[in-house]
Amino acid sequence: LENGVARTPPMGWNSWNTFGCNINETLIKQMADTIVSSGLRDLGYKYVVVDDCWFNPNRDSSGNLQGNPSRFPSGMKALGDYLHAKGLKFGIYQVPVDKTCAQYFGSYPGATGSQGHEAQDARQFAAWGVDYLKYDWCSPNGSIDDQVRTFAKMRDALAATGRPIVYSINSNSIHAKTGPQRDWGDVANIWRTTEDITNKWDTGQTNGYPMGIQNIVNVTVPLASYARPGAFNDPDMMEVGRGGMTDTEMRSHFALWAMMASPLIAGNDLRSMDSATQTILKNQNLIAINQDSLGLQARQISNDGTRRVLAKKLSNGDVAVALFNQGGGTTTISTTASAIGLSGGSFTLRDAWTNAVSASTGAISASVPSHGTVVYRVSGGATSSPSPTPSPTPSPTPSP
Ligand code: GLA
Repeated sequence: LENGVARTPPMGWNSWNTFGCNINETLIKQMADTIVSSGLRDLGYKYVVVDDCWFNPNRDSSGNLQGNPSRFPSGMKALGDYLHAKGLKFGIYQVPVDKTCAQYFGSYPGATGSQGHEAQDARQFAAWGVDYLKYDWCSPNGSIDDQVRTFAKMRDALAATGRPIVYSINSNSIHAKTGPQRDWGDVANIWRTTEDITNKWDTGQTNGYPMGIQNIVNVTVPLASYARPGAFNDPDMMEVGRGGMTDTEMRSHFALWAMMASPLIAGNDLRSMDSATQTILKNQNLIAINQDSLGLQARQISNDGTRRVLAKKLSNGDVAVALFNQGGGTTTISTTASAIGLSGGSFTLRDAWTNAVSASTGAISASVPSHGTVVYRVSGGATSSPSPTPSPTPSPTPSP
């Protein structure tokens, strides 16, 4: 969506994965304080998104949305002010329909959802200082055309406020899956590709609740051509640091989200991050790959069911390559510089996890543990044609 924001994938934190409905202003403020003190803000994690359950499900006497006064006694504007004073941005959750996904609903039709109140609610969000709206379908009803119409109404209402607001939509909750069926980039900045993520590697789902990391990757990799500045596939908030996976799997999860130009929205309790979690979320090599100004999602180079190779072209002519082992044992995964769109005879490979630099005449290969992902930033060659992605306009890349 060309609304000036999300030129690279949004980064931040969202309350849902860890806290569900158990949220209040003290918690959100603690999380904001921790984003700053942990250094995450300065690495790009700026959007603090208050998910479902923040509101009083009934509007006030003027028909305005209102925060739940016991959870947010200071009000939503005060929360936005608090976040802004910390150099952060304010995100909030809403639905078009009568019930939220957590089954919150008011006492009369239209009490909760924004359908029919788009202009008033968008003005309310803007007045609170909202910088990011997560707008969640949450209805078993409605065709894809209904969804496009309804999501577009809020898009237009947000634009009419004049405030730059990242517009995040979810067409996939409690609904036949529509995410993969169209390019939503005319409607929203980011759009969910699957049903909800869970903190497991593989749940066996193809696109039903709950989705594991491997399952979401399977759905989202083929959608690469939709990604561009202002418009990104959203494979859901991260489960890094939430248990349920090995460190290798959590590193893979983050590396693959980075390669897929996915929003990097942490979902863990930031107040109790262990060092493995911090190392993952703060990997500057992967953040730079994710935030590259070309805004391209990695294209699949090969996948034999076990060994999967993805390549993401970067703005300075480098190519990031992921060697992802989907199998049950350690294996060697190989590709070549020419297969990922680079020509020439001498390359350097920087390992995004270890920072080790090695020289290559074209071979790109690593021994990768089960469910692991090795990422190299490959530089040195001139870009050849055909390449996995359109050719870049060279521009400086932030050094890791
Ligand atoms: C849906 C969404 C989740 C979360 C919940 C809140 O399930 O997909 O990300 O927002 O609703 O109820």
